[in-house]
Amino acid sequence: MERFDYRRMSFYQIWIRSFADGNGDGIGDLYGVYDKLDYIASLGVDGIWFSPIYPSPNADYGYDISDYRNIHPDYGTLEQFRKVLDRAHELGLRVIMDLVINHTSDEHPWFLESRKSRTGPYSDYYIWRDPKWKGESRLPPNNWYSQFEGLAWEYCPEREQYYLHVFAKKQPDLNMDNPKVREEVKGIMRFWLDMGVDGFREDVITFISKHPQLPDGLPFVPAINGMPFYKDGPNLMAYLREFRAVAREYGAVQIGEAPMTPLKTAMTYLTGEDRVLDMMIQFDTMMADCFMTEYIHLPFSLPKLKRAFSKWQLALSGKGWNALYLENHDHPRVISRYGSEEYWRESGTMLAAAYLFQQGTPFIYQGQEIGMTNIRLGSIEEYQDVATINTYHSFRRHQSEEKRLRHVHIASRDSARTPVQWDDSEYAGFSSVKPWFAVNPNYREINVSREEGDEQSILNFYRRCLRLRKGSETLLWGDYREYFPLHRGIYLYERSYRGERILVVCSFSKKEQDWQLPKGYAWEGSQVLLCNYPGEPKPGKLRPYETQVLRW
Ligand code: GLC
Ligand code: CA
Repeated sequence: MERFDYRRMSFYQIWIRSFADGNGDGIGDLYGVYDKLDYIASLGVDGIWFSPIYPSPNADYGYDISDYRNIHPDYGTLEQFRKVLDRAHELGLRVIMDLVINHTSDEHPWFLESRKSRTGPYSDYYIWRDPKWKGESRLPPNNWYSQFEGLAWEYCPEREQYYLHVFAKKQPDLNMDNPKVREEVKGIMRFWLDMGVDGFREDVITFISKHPQLPDGLPFVPAINGMPFYKDGPNLMAYLREFRAVAREYGAVQIGEAPMTPLKTAMTYLTGEDRVLDMMIQFDTMMADCFMTEYIHLPFSLPKLKRAFSKWQLALSGKGWNALYLENHDHPRVISRYGSEEYWRESGTMLAAAYLFQQGTPFIYQGQEIGMTNIRLGSIEEYQDVATINTYHSFRRHQSEEKRLRHVHIASRDSARTPVQWDDSEYAGFSSVKPWFAVNPNYREINVSREEGDEQSILNFYRRCLRLRKGSETLLWGDYREYFPLHRGIYLYERSYRGERILVVCSFSKKEQDWQLPKGYAWEGSQVLLCNYPGEPKPGKLRPYETQVLRW
């Protein structure tokens, strides 16, 4: 039984450490969140997704959990969380938590026990394997690399075995084939659902079932060579069904993160009465300027972006439901990638219209709604993210420091993890003391307070978009169709429902462009619902990064 219709909703993502500092120690927290709940509600969103707020040694900023049933002391207490949850509900905001169960922290009590011996009650909670021996040399069980930090295996002298970590060393992978581990997961889900939480965003959930033999991957592919053997694995559906049963009891929503899952496989998770996920975070739309990862940068390609959009729109139409996003805590800021910092306001608003009016549930990442852009720090020492730092030290070592740093500027997740810019006071109104991480120096121009007072701001444009979407049956349920897919400067899509048609036209160019209505349309009888330039738009003309939403 669903207790709410997530399809009508949109979500705001909080990465708490950089959201708002309520107690003056330079770190974002639940006191800050509480104070900003009215602001979040004022955007017109219907829910919040919290990136992890649990106790964590922060090897991967919360994605390495050492206690699943508590709040990190940096962020507050369970009591403060309940206050946030209750107030959010009063404001009509649903709250979903991040469920990170592919791995724990190596400081989680389960792991501390597990590493002690091969026979204890927790010995089989993680993926342990004997070494391979080549004469006298001890080698890891296979040749997999981790995604964040060297090889995927770490030796543990107490057990004389290796444990698997697909991500950082401090993130050992759980052994989901152990039924006791799955019971733990269900217990964690119930703990938060009993408290009143409305669902979960499920971290790399498609990685939890490993190939039983853990075979070698390709030797020359770094970072992801084991992926074919841990992604979309043999028991994944069975395990997801078990978790689904718990979510169903509560009518909770489940959004699964699924890097590199092909469409055909995704359909098995997302469609049919017995689907195991309500929505999926696919990565195709994050690859319009790179190959696989932002670190392999390519020039931005609008046709590639449009292909990714349309692929998911068409495939799930009438069968499943899309999660729509352009930013989160794992990717650089979208204006700096797909838009233009030069045409900051224009491209920031255009990008909003490019995705918010597709069919699906939109997710907006903190700071996206004011058009925050990438930070460019002066040295690698100033970066915090484990993936950024290790990538910097492992690749392109023959290149100059300047060049390598430029890559970091383009690709780092830290580009999107700087403190939210609330106003133009010192530290951008995020905190009264020096924040844990650098504030983007552009905070005097880009901040909430300034944009509140400007009708044309990115912030107010997001508000208009969300209002329009929620009030329009056509934008909620209508069919999606794309026109001129090969056009290199314009994205044009249609939503149609019960005789009403809405066209969304988006310019991805710094130049003025002409455009034509598709066949079967005429300018007469059209109504402008939205435009990101003041005044009436000119038929058939697009200014730099202009977007228009037109109705027939
Ligand atoms: C997901 C998270 C990311 C994290 C990784 C490992 O991709 O979104 O932030 O580093 O999983 O937990
Ligand atoms: Ca704080």
